[in-house]
Amino acid sequence: MPERAPAPAPPVALVTGASRGIGRAIAADLAAAGHAVACTARHEADARAAAAAIADAVPGARTIGVVLEVTDPASVASAVARTEEALGPITVLVSNAGIQRLGGVLEQSAEDWDAVIATNLTGAFHVAQAVARRMVETGTAGAIVNIASAAGLIAFPGRTAYAAAKAGLIMLTRSFALELAPHGIRVNAVAPTFVETELGRQTLDAPGMRAAITARIPLGRVATEADVAAAVRYLVSPGAGFVTGTVLPVDGGIALR
Ligand SMILES: NC(=O)c1ccc[n+]([C@@H]2O[C@H](COP(=O)([O-])OP(=O)(O)OC[C@H]3O[C@@H](n4cnc5c(N)ncnc54)[C@H](OP(=O)(O)O)[C@@H]3O)[C@@H](O)[C@H]2O)c1
Repeated sequence: MPERAPAPAPPVALVTGASRGIGRAIAADLAAAGHAVACTARHEADARAAAAAIADAVPGARTIGVVLEVTDPASVASAVARTEEALGPITVLVSNAGIQRLGGVLEQSAEDWDAVIATNLTGAFHVAQAVARRMVETGTAGAIVNIASAAGLIAFPGRTAYAAAKAGLIMLTRSFALELAPHGIRVNAVAPTFVETELGRQTLDAPGMRAAITARIPLGRVATEADVAAAVRYLVSPGAGFVTGTVLPVDGGIALR
């Protein structure tokens, strides 16, 4: 009998903010595409519940729930270590955790500004740096995807901190892509328009907003979680092996005009 080569280890994805919304959909989609997935959230019960729900829904999925608070570098380090211990070296990071505090430029409080920048920009830096360091140490030619926003590319009223953080995240993506390319690590961003989630509904459910936003989107609808997950799946796939430092809008064309 010829000796069989051992089956290759499955790719390992860490998804931040996987307890609900877009992150949960991305985690489920990557699990369906054969990744072992660490689903992270700030509370252990939420992380575990997401991991269990995905394992139930996706036959053969290997998932774990891990606590991760993006604003705390020690929490990030321990989540990365816990993931590697349970699943092996991380090959894919999806940096999705984010918050929104609405407020016009004349009203936005310094506290809200700080919270949004700390989570959406500095938090994404902590996570990308921690995972990239391990990818370099383990010689893993991995892929990192940051979930930015159409608001990082075009101005919308009432979300200055959020827009500034997402624009910063796009430049963070390009900086990481440039410096990590010699290690074979690719870094890209996805920029969705409004998506039906807890965060998206802060805007979509305001009087008249859903109709006004839909009318502004050339393809005539808001985005779905599945639209974003499909873009992430492409960017982490071998088919995107020569794609780095890009921002992929998933926006129905809203940024065209
Ligand atoms: N929805 C939209 O219209 C839209 C459009 C463009 C881009 N985006 C971006 O897509 C990403 C996901 O948004 P979503 O709509 O799915 O939001 P969501 O439903 O509110 O979910 C946000 C996720 O982020 C996690 N999170 C929040 N603060 C965190 C922190 N400090 N540390 C760790 N995790 C934290 C939450 O986990 P907990 O369980 O710990 O709370 C939750 O899993 C965000 O980056 C958002 O800016 C959203």
